[in-house]
Amino acid sequence: MEWNASDYGENAGYVAKYGQEILSLLSPQPEESILDLGCGDGELTKVIAAKSPNVMGIDSSPQMIKKAKERGVNALVMDGEAMPYENKFDAVFSNASLHWMKNSDAVIDNVHRSLKPGGRFCAEMGGEGNIKSVVAAIYRGLKKIKLSGEEHNPWYFPNQEEYAEKLKKAGFEVKSIIEFSRPTKLPTDITGWFITFAQPFLNDIPSDQQENFLQNIQQDLAAKLKNEQGEWIADYVRLRFLAFKK
Ligand code: BEZ
Repeated sequence: MEWNASDYGENAGYVAKYGQEILSLLSPQPEESILDLGCGDGELTKVIAAKSPNVMGIDSSPQMIKKAKERGVNALVMDGEAMPYENKFDAVFSNASLHWMKNSDAVIDNVHRSLKPGGRFCAEMGGEGNIKSVVAAIYRGLKKIKLSGEEHNPWYFPNQEEYAEKLKKAGFEVKSIIEFSRPTKLPTDITGWFITFAQPFLNDIPSDQQENFLQNIQQDLAAKLKNEQGEWIADYVRLRFLAFKK
């Protein structure tokens, strides 16, 4: 999807803030070579670089990589599903990105190949049931205009057992894997969130109907996600894991 780096800054600032815990699990060391897979605008890559200067970010979005480079991060445009590295990194890190890569088997194989023996894969992504009420409202909105939610859904939110199985099958030893809810306060509202994160659902909606579609979703979700203070709290679920290449 096309990312807009400036409204990402407004609507997604919490992504890096919540990334601190997964960074502690990574525990980057000065001499290590680290890949940040799906680095987005490079905010966390820069934090890693302060501890492990030999870190590189990749992301499939040229807009995001431009922003990451402006921050001074070593970054390049590359898709995790087509990553060619072999035996190169001590660790592969990923925060809030793997759920955009629907070909998860290819991604896990690519990460495994790119790691040195004993290297680690440390990541957090959306888990099963992530933003469940948002997805349901989008599907309802699309159904009303005779479009399929399933066909436009860009995300993969696996459960813990399924993902652990995939990691093991690819040759990882899974040290830890947990799934937990993380209700997340949005900086604006669900429309702002949608514009930043859910554009693929708009692909087949004529442009003169998109505003109405977004208003319907906002109305549909207000009772569930908007609290008495008028804040929007999204029903995020995280899947967090640490696995080692055998
Ligand atoms: C997530 O981080 O879980 C997420 C963010 C935006 C869209 C889908 C999932």
